[in-house]
Amino acid sequence: NTTSIQDQLKRPIRDLRISLTDRCNFRCSYCMPKEIFGEDYAFLPARELLSFAEILRLTRLFVSLGVVKIRLTGGEPLLRKDLPELVAGIRSLNGVEDIGLTTNGVLLGQQAKGLYAAGLRRLNISLDALHPEIFGTMNGRGLKPSLILKHIDQAREMGYELKVNMVVQKGVNESEILPMAAYFKERKITLRFIEFMDAGNDNGWSLAKVVTKKEILQSLREVYELEALEQDFYGEVAQRYRYKDSDAEIGFITSVSESFCSSCTRARLSSDGKFYTCLFASGGTDLRALLRSGADDSSLLNVISDVWEKRTDRYSDERQEHTAAGRKKISMSYIGG
Ligand code: GTP
Ligand code: 5AD
Ligand code: SF4
Ligand code: SF4
Repeated sequence: NTTSIQDQLKRPIRDLRISLTDRCNFRCSYCMPKEIFGEDYAFLPARELLSFAEILRLTRLFVSLGVVKIRLTGGEPLLRKDLPELVAGIRSLNGVEDIGLTTNGVLLGQQAKGLYAAGLRRLNISLDALHPEIFGTMNGRGLKPSLILKHIDQAREMGYELKVNMVVQKGVNESEILPMAAYFKERKITLRFIEFMDAGNDNGWSLAKVVTKKEILQSLREVYELEALEQDFYGEVAQRYRYKDSDAEIGFITSVSESFCSSCTRARLSSDGKFYTCLFASGGTDLRALLRSGADDSSLLNVISDVWEKRTDRYSDERQEHTAAGRKKISMSYIGG
């Protein structure tokens, strides 16, 4: 049990979110809008991505500074070949208490079994609508929800602990709040409503397009009795609620209406090995350059702890305080949601 290093706001480092690729087989308008991520978009070439050995080495170092939770993300992490190898490697690191993967679910049909065998137990699956046209438009590829729903059922059968993430946008998929709630309540799968965030510089965000937790809860309460649950652990991102007539839960991720920076314990590693201390950071620290120039563990540890100990990020708080205007940001598919 390591004591975590702390930043300037006394927040310990506890989580590492690792982006495995900047590519994705979807083009969600709020994340990788087609107009920007088109045919000729320059994604990172393979040699620029961290290898599994590099990821494992950095993860081991982060864990020695206090990280206990690992999340694999992207882009779409299932696009990375031989992923079970990486999962098994992370699982075997001393000090890792939890490992989860965030995916759009398209490739789970081929990969869920192998990942389970490698020791993965937690999947967060993004699904924004049950309505085929709405989902098809939102994912930018016309893909139907039936495939994802099938994969969700299969993963549950296999024994995975699942959550579904729904980004809610005004005038786009608000009408899906109640159908999604009913569908996942019946299956006792936790559905989390995510407030649309101003990630990247090009996702068409405006405050007017955000549907807040308050509004979502209001429409749910017209149909269901819900009670708020206590926070499970310090720094938990979602606010959880339980249906009174069932043990199914829902969650809200309120980065716009009720920001949670004051307990943010999350470090992020981009697929090309930059270390970011905030989802909305405008710059990162190039750990890959250090790795590839032969830096030893102790100098890497020094750099990582130095960056964390200087950390003051609280972007979502600042957005609420209206002090964050005009900042240049990094796209979410690159930095890893
Ligand atoms: P669990 O460990 O299962 O609770 O995972 P998680 O909710 O931390 O991860 P997931 O990848 O499912 O993310 C859900 C949503 O929360 C996504 O929209 C993320 O972008 C958002 N999110 C996660 N961490 C942060 C954060 O530090 N800041 C902000 N603003 N949003 C975050
Ligand atoms: N606002 C909120 N959530 C987002 N995600 C991607 N872009 C945004 C955004 N602009 C979500 C995805 C996925 C998670 C990793 O991040 O839907 O569930
Ligand atoms: Fe891909 Fe997820 Fe971004 Fe959608 S939100 S484009 S599925 S990385
Ligand atoms: Fe953490 Fe930055 Fe998100 Fe705030 S905005 S919760 S500091 S990642």
